[in-house]
Amino acid sequence: MREQWGSQTGFVLATIGAAVGLGNIWRFAYIAGENGGAVFLLVYLLFVLLIGLPLMIAELALGRRGGGDAVAAFEIDRTGSPWRLAGWVSVVGAALILSYYAVIAGWALKYFLGAATGDLWQAAEGGFGGYFDRFIAGSVEPVLWQGVMLALAAAVVAGGVKKGIERINLWLMPVLAVIVIGLAGYALTLPGSAKGVHFLFAPDWSVLARPEMYLNALGQAFFSLGIGMAVFITYGSYVGRNSRLPRSAVAVALGDTAFALVAGLAIFPAVFALGGDPAAGPRLAFITFPQVLLAMPGGTWIGIVFFLLLTAAALTSMISLLEVPVSVACDRLGAMRSRAALTVTLIIFLIGIPSALSYGLLADWEVFGRPLLDTIDHGVSNFLLPFGGLAIAAYVGWRLTPVVALEASDFSGSLSGRLWLWLLRVAVPLTISVILMRSVGVL
Ligand code: PFF
Repeated sequence: MREQWGSQTGFVLATIGAAVGLGNIWRFAYIAGENGGAVFLLVYLLFVLLIGLPLMIAELALGRRGGGDAVAAFEIDRTGSPWRLAGWVSVVGAALILSYYAVIAGWALKYFLGAATGDLWQAAEGGFGGYFDRFIAGSVEPVLWQGVMLALAAAVVAGGVKKGIERINLWLMPVLAVIVIGLAGYALTLPGSAKGVHFLFAPDWSVLARPEMYLNALGQAFFSLGIGMAVFITYGSYVGRNSRLPRSAVAVALGDTAFALVAGLAIFPAVFALGGDPAAGPRLAFITFPQVLLAMPGGTWIGIVFFLLLTAAALTSMISLLEVPVSVACDRLGAMRSRAALTVTLIIFLIGIPSALSYGLLADWEVFGRPLLDTIDHGVSNFLLPFGGLAIAAYVGWRLTPVVALEASDFSGSLSGRLWLWLLRVAVPLTISVILMRSVGVL
């Protein structure tokens, strides 16, 4: 008998833990910053609602119906079906994401420990730019911290679904919610913070004319929700028949979006209040924001709490990504969970080493004009995840009959069910295809 979540709350919080991560804080802040703020936010919200939410429901339904790992979900209707390839691609994709995600999570951990011991503030006296660049150019530290974060995730996953994954999310997610709200509340009291709020909420419509903005908003919606790479298929396979999937998915999508908005309200007011550049790119959370903290009253305390938040949020997402290949290893190879977690983590650690070195030893090795880690992040979010989404929309929307799809997702024949199915069959694949084709110049 497959393990199941201990409670509905546990399931929802674990799933929010998968969704809320570096994507909501580090990635959201810099992508929104680079894409002009408010208008990007609107398009992003639209994509979350019309593409992300229907796909999340479909993933959960597929997972629960399959009752096994990500590959089983695509193979249950016919053994040996070519659809199982979609399952394998997402398992490999989840491992690939985790391999570089762990590197950035490692940066967050390094900053948290540095902030707590005071080393960070001292070392950065000459400016955070130099400090950060020296750190990520090293050959030892980035790999070391990447390894520590992976080891933490492996320890939780080895504990099992209920005793490991569910337990840590049950207490960590509420704590993180309190922290991010507290940080935003503080940032909003800073003089000059209104500019940051203005940046996030007052639209500058000219951004609508930038084609790459749509691709970035789509990629961010996929990445932030964590859809397209079988995380929700896997988590869905531990859900009982008595849960209502659409309701849970709405809670997760809302929670994830609220988290990104509140994190934005913690970062942008601070950045604007002290004259930082919102379009500073991936360095925003690690250079611009800490620089701002140094100049803020009580900033060093805020720094400790902020980097704790970033590290812990990253950890709960890493756990979800690791569970995807681990559940495959347990189901297919009959491996013991703890041994599967250890072996899979080791492999992912090795795959991630080039990413960890992409600003140091491998800095000269640019792939498509960017450092390796940036290229993987861009490719995964903007292409691999949307492709995963297409596969899920095609399978649930077209391969399954409407009756089966509606039944599997707890909609039965309701009006919202029909709307969901229409989105999944038509709107989702069409929007994703158009955006992808435009971005590679086909349209
Ligand atoms: N949703 C996570 C975040 O926002 O940081 C990252 C993530 C998790 C991406 C799971 C993709 C995924 F399949």
